[in-house]
Amino acid sequence: MSPKRKETRKTRKLLFKTMRVEDSLAAKKARIERELDRILSRDDSLLFQAMRYAVLDGGKRFRPLLLLSSGACFGVALRTLLPFACAIELIHSYSLIHDDLPAMDDDDLRRGKPTCHKAFGEDIALLAGDSLLTLAFEVLARAPVPPGIWQRKEEAVRAISRHAGSSGMIGGQFLDITLRTGPLTEPKVAEVSLKKTGALIIAAVEVGAILGAAPPAEKRAVLSFGRNLGLAFQVRDDLLDSGESKKETPALRPDHVTLLGRAGAEKKLAELVSRAEAAVERFAHRAEEMRFLCQGLLSFSPEVKNA
Ligand code: IPE
Ligand code: IPE
Ligand code: MG
Ligand code: MG
Repeated sequence: MSPKRKETRKTRKLLFKTMRVEDSLAAKKARIERELDRILSRDDSLLFQAMRYAVLDGGKRFRPLLLLSSGACFGVALRTLLPFACAIELIHSYSLIHDDLPAMDDDDLRRGKPTCHKAFGEDIALLAGDSLLTLAFEVLARAPVPPGIWQRKEEAVRAISRHAGSSGMIGGQFLDITLRTGPLTEPKVAEVSLKKTGALIIAAVEVGAILGAAPPAEKRAVLSFGRNLGLAFQVRDDLLDSGESKKETPALRPDHVTLLGRAGAEKKLAELVSRAEAAVERFAHRAEEMRFLCQGLLSFSPEVKNA
């Protein structure tokens, strides 16, 4: 075969693989949307309207997709993974409601529409957030798992609690507020990012590995993927936000653009993505979706934040 034909075949094969992964992720996203809609259909009170407003019609579903992809990598059935994926998205959505409140980042827009407190008032938004967090743990408690993996379920719920709480996401939000007074250093900014944003991303991939009883070396590889990806996600968010007019003083924000400049932050993002990909190279085609989600962080423009 001529080198040119060989090259064409290779390109076609790559295109086919990308389409296959994209289709599979689109089908998974549709399942997540349906399940979230079902979970949030309990009643039509103003509280539930605010919860539905904050969760449905928007959001990339990055964390639940990661969880489903990581679980698939370890052979776990989609129906077993789905409640865990939705619970993580409920926790993420609650964190966004509270993050946008005047006492926190005081933002007016989220997912391309008015923030929950702008639409429903601060009092209802606060309670909608509380309620989503509580609902997430109800969903986890009810999650049906095959009898043989009860212990793994318990471990997965423990991991989610740890990553969502004071030593994970909330700890990161706390640092994000309190570090605004001291000088910024790279390790400090990385710690804030790894906790406030990385923690739920790490939780998503960790739960897949726990439910699939990944051997220790494979679990370590998945955690390394999660840490690099989690940090990369926040570096990208900082890049996307750097063009936006935020109410806070940019120089005080513990973010990577303030610290490294745009070019430095872009370089950091590329490095982190390639480290994450390298961490799961050993899984070959089993980690195709995880790698695809990771690669997606490199293609961005300000419009894609709410895509
Ligand atoms: C935004 O998260 C907030 C961060 C933790 C950086 P996403 O960019 O995943 O937001 P949605 O869920 O797609 O709206
Ligand atoms: C949000 O971080 C992190 C959590 C909600 C836990 P940011 O405040 O940096 O994210 P955006 O820019 O509001 O999405
Ligand atoms: Mg914030
Ligand atoms: Mg914010």
